[in-house]
Amino acid sequence: MHPTNNASSLSSTLFVIFGAGGDLTWRKLMPALYNLWLDGWLPHDFVITGIDRRQMSKDDFAQHIRDGIDQFSRQGKSDDKQWADFATHLDYVSADFGAAATFADLAERVAALGKEWSQPPNVVYYLAISPALIQMVVEGLGKVGLADDRDHASIVVEKPFGRDLDSARALNSMLTQTFAETQIYRIDHYLGKETVQNILAMRFANAIFEPLWNRTSIERVEITVAESVGVEHRGGYYDHAGAVRDMIQNHLLQIFCLISMEPPIVFAADEIRDKKVEVLRAVRPIAPEKVDQLAKRGQYEGYRQEPDVSASSNTETFAQLTLHVDNWRWQGVPFVLRTGKALKDKVSLVKIRFRSIPHRAFPAAAVPRWPRNELQIHIQPNEGIDICMLAKEPGPELLLKPVDMNFRYSEDFAKKPMPEAYETLLLDVMQRDATLFMRGDQVETAWRVVMPVLDAWGHSDDQPTVYPVGSWGP
Ligand code: BG6
Repeated sequence: MHPTNNASSLSSTLFVIFGAGGDLTWRKLMPALYNLWLDGWLPHDFVITGIDRRQMSKDDFAQHIRDGIDQFSRQGKSDDKQWADFATHLDYVSADFGAAATFADLAERVAALGKEWSQPPNVVYYLAISPALIQMVVEGLGKVGLADDRDHASIVVEKPFGRDLDSARALNSMLTQTFAETQIYRIDHYLGKETVQNILAMRFANAIFEPLWNRTSIERVEITVAESVGVEHRGGYYDHAGAVRDMIQNHLLQIFCLISMEPPIVFAADEIRDKKVEVLRAVRPIAPEKVDQLAKRGQYEGYRQEPDVSASSNTETFAQLTLHVDNWRWQGVPFVLRTGKALKDKVSLVKIRFRSIPHRAFPAAAVPRWPRNELQIHIQPNEGIDICMLAKEPGPELLLKPVDMNFRYSEDFAKKPMPEAYETLLLDVMQRDATLFMRGDQVETAWRVVMPVLDAWGHSDDQPTVYPVGSWGP
């Protein structure tokens, strides 16, 4: 998170992408870097080196990247002149991640740029690769000393961070044999979303919420991330993951942390991350005999016929977990986390439902319905916040009706475009600000929360409840 747009505050940077020929680079990383560049965030001395097995000339790579930008950039098609300028910062190397020469050449390149720029470059190694290749690349970098400069070298790791607690531990231990924790940026793109970042601002920059933010006033919290798409072309990955691994262990638990954590003392990376780990540690472990009651799963109709999905798959495409937090603030307040694919609509929403008023002084005829007050955080779409309350309808009779007080990004910040999550996060990495990234202990604690459910479902022959495509789930 960056207080001011001051490109010069970023020192000369080399951004190395392993897996530069892949989908993530094409759809997300390069459009984000291009937009950062257009908006003046990148320094004068700036090089992006794409590394991939694919044989491609530098020009072909640039053209491929430009096609992606033209399709996916929030700022629309690239302008010829601006593109020509940006393309001078692009470099492509087709290389084998298993070959020592790949890393020796890279080390030479880093040294040469250091000389050219007269200072050690800030180097970001971005792993846009399959989890199976991570160790090879990390060790390759380590062997030639590219991880040694603790102050200038960083590595970005994409999810999945393991597929259970043990594999996450193994991944963390492998990474920290080469890089220090302060050099490792585990990315969760939900944390880059403006509306998710705004949860901290809403809670801790305003006086009116915090006094109510506890079990005395709040009855229940619901975090829903619904998607209308199915697994699309990712059946091979998804069928081994499922909704809990793909969404709840990371994105939904991140939102949960921001809603439930204690106030930070200062707005600093480790302070905020400490507070998140603390509340995750307070989540009551789900006992095996409670799994059926606290966790629900579903599978959309036709999922088993999707490409690369097993015809007898029990993988859940919908999951709902009810968590309880054993601390003073939240005792007795259920947190319901749910997510699913092939649902009726794409909507990510947090609902904070308040307790009912202690005494109803109004005559029954004045209030046909007593809805609870609710605070709704619309993460996407229709980004904003609503407070649902009762108001007197105008007119001589006494009649109370539910109304919404709302804040919408599209109205209040109409002139401020919303950056894509990856823009925020990539700039943070280059500025070495880890506030919006997950520390190793947080990833492991999040796995600990979901493991009882994954274990129970993994050992059960029960099948997820089938739900129709386009419904709200089971
Ligand atoms: C990804 C999941 O992390 O997040 C996908 O792997 C999911 O399955 C996606 O579709 C959702 O992200 P967003 O930003 O579209 O809500």
